[in-house]
Amino acid sequence: MSRFFEDADTAKNYLRYRPGYSNEVVDTMISFLATKRAGPYELALDVGCGSGQLTRSLSTQFAQVIGLDISEAQIDAAHTVQNPQNVSFRVGRAENLPAADSSVDIITSATAGHYFNWDIFGKEVERVLKPNGCLVALYYDLFYIEHHDEGVAKKLAECIESHMDYITNSVLRKGTPDVCLTYRDWCKERLPLSYADQERIEMTMKKTMNLREFIEFHKTWAYFIKLHNEDPDATLAHFEKFEKSLMELLDGVDPETTRLDVWAPVFLRFARKP
Ligand SMILES: C[S@@+](CC[C@H](N)C(=O)[O-])C[C@H]1O[C@@H](n2cnc3c(N)ncnc32)[C@H](O)[C@@H]1O
Repeated sequence: MSRFFEDADTAKNYLRYRPGYSNEVVDTMISFLATKRAGPYELALDVGCGSGQLTRSLSTQFAQVIGLDISEAQIDAAHTVQNPQNVSFRVGRAENLPAADSSVDIITSATAGHYFNWDIFGKEVERVLKPNGCLVALYYDLFYIEHHDEGVAKKLAECIESHMDYITNSVLRKGTPDVCLTYRDWCKERLPLSYADQERIEMTMKKTMNLREFIEFHKTWAYFIKLHNEDPDATLAHFEKFEKSLMELLDGVDPETTRLDVWAPVFLRFARKP
């Protein structure tokens, strides 16, 4: 189930359309780490890094940052852009972390932890973290479009939610629930680690993009990839309808030139090794 992201087109779309994380998100992680472990920090490990959405933004805070992903295509895509010289990417599994015992200050995992085998990953976390080192698993939920007219903003939100319901219900109708459908639960639950020192912080992330980018971003979600693999015509027809409805609500003429201010809730789950 973690293999949704393997093909080269998906990885390219990831690099192009999947949002990076704000400095505020990174600062929040550092503040949690810093309460019990003072810098300077040596090593951050970003697990399930995709094409590096979070990995690169850690580079200013750590001497070395390693992005790890099970998908070779994602790591290839990560290598196609200019990366800070202290950032490297590797193909590998969360269940076999490429780090020495007690060597890592922080392990991050952005919208990826729901794919891991936590019985094994948890043991790896315990092995590689330094004392008072932290694991941060973060997730975002739906992105909403801002609008100065409250009525329009509400209709845009309803359109986005009903799109997501359609995709989720279509995936559900086709079989038993799988890992991509547990994603939203992961935003809320406690991390399955024995560490007592845990915290959950919720914040908002804002982005600017055009409508085409907004639509293409939605096509990077595992739900879409799964449905599209099974029923490409119906899935793409649904996306055309989704784009058209948003265009009408926004009075747009061209998805490329229709600029959007969007926001999403971001949930950060922290756990600190004693
Ligand atoms: C939804 S993407 C998130 C990518 C990126 N971190 C982001 O925030 O956009 C999940 C990533 O986790 C990777 N992944 C899934 N299972 C994994 C595992 N067991 N070990 C390492 N990476 C894994 C996938 O290949 C995919 O790139």
